[in-house]
Amino acid sequence: MMTDSQLLTIECAGVTFPNPVGTASGTCGYGLDLKDLIDLNKLGAVFTKGLSAKPMRGNAPWRIVETHGGMINAIGLQNIGAKTFVAEKLPELRQYATRIIPNVFGYSIDEYSEAIRILEDGEGIHAYELNISCPNVKEGGKSFANDACQAAEVTAAVRKASSRPVIVKLSPNVTDIAEIARAVEDAGADALSLINTAIGMSIDIHTRKPRIGNVTGGLSGPAIKPIAVRCVFQAYRAVKIPLIGIGGIATTEDALEFIIAGARLIQVGTANFYDPSATMKIIDGLAEYCREKNLNNISKLVGTVEA
Ligand SMILES: Cc1cc2nc3c(=O)[nH]c(=O)nc-3n(C[C@H](O)[C@H](O)[C@H](O)COP(=O)(O)O)c2cc1C
Repeated sequence: MMTDSQLLTIECAGVTFPNPVGTASGTCGYGLDLKDLIDLNKLGAVFTKGLSAKPMRGNAPWRIVETHGGMINAIGLQNIGAKTFVAEKLPELRQYATRIIPNVFGYSIDEYSEAIRILEDGEGIHAYELNISCPNVKEGGKSFANDACQAAEVTAAVRKASSRPVIVKLSPNVTDIAEIARAVEDAGADALSLINTAIGMSIDIHTRKPRIGNVTGGLSGPAIKPIAVRCVFQAYRAVKIPLIGIGGIATTEDALEFIIAGARLIQVGTANFYDPSATMKIIDGLAEYCREKNLNNISKLVGTVEA
């Protein structure tokens, strides 16, 4: 019988992952938040909370509200800063067998490059994931993710500053995800993550005030899963670089849907808040599915949707 490791080991963006399951940025701090809840040695990858060159305090409350089938957050990218991550979190995190992928952001291309320069000194980092859903304050505040030229520009700049693979995380809040995916691929991205949260809003009908301090926020959880599967499917048809599927994944069946649509890896986000063992269950479930379907490796399933 084939081992789970043989069935699930998979390459993506030049990195070999012990299995295709990671934790999504912003839902498990710097990975160590989960160390007493799950076996971090079994996890495929930790995608950290977004890191910037300098620490950030984030938004005023309320920052999170529950909605049907999901939640809206506007944390405001609070983080300890790249330098503190390298000095205080990375040494403990790299003791685990999981792959370490810092999620990185900035409000200008220089800020992205600066964060990468700091992280380049960190030992044990396998790749970077760029959150390009931030406003570019030097170009009128439009999100990098919403403009093919700006998305390409930040990708190229980071590609130049980085000795490690660069994964670019796309936003669903665009008209044509395939156009952005192609622009980012052409600019040198090694892989794409899809999707970040969908912009949402919720109103308290008694006070008539938005339930989020920031007025709008990012919708995540099962409610966005069909949007995310559609984005992965469209990107798979548009580019050759590997894809990482994210959005509402809570079960093995959810993960399989993304893999069949074209994802080589998947990330679990919001589900960690109500079931921290979701990643562990999905890893076991994917191995079981491979055995059931006589697949000698999970990669055989990637993009096999008959559409
Ligand atoms: C509380 C919270 C914080 C998040 N912070 C980040 C972040 O710092 N950087 C990022 O790229 N995505 C961030 N995300 C987006 C998630 O990584 C993920 O793309 C999104 O939530 C969809 O996946 P899910 O439905 O499994 O949660 C955050 C999501 C949540 C819920």
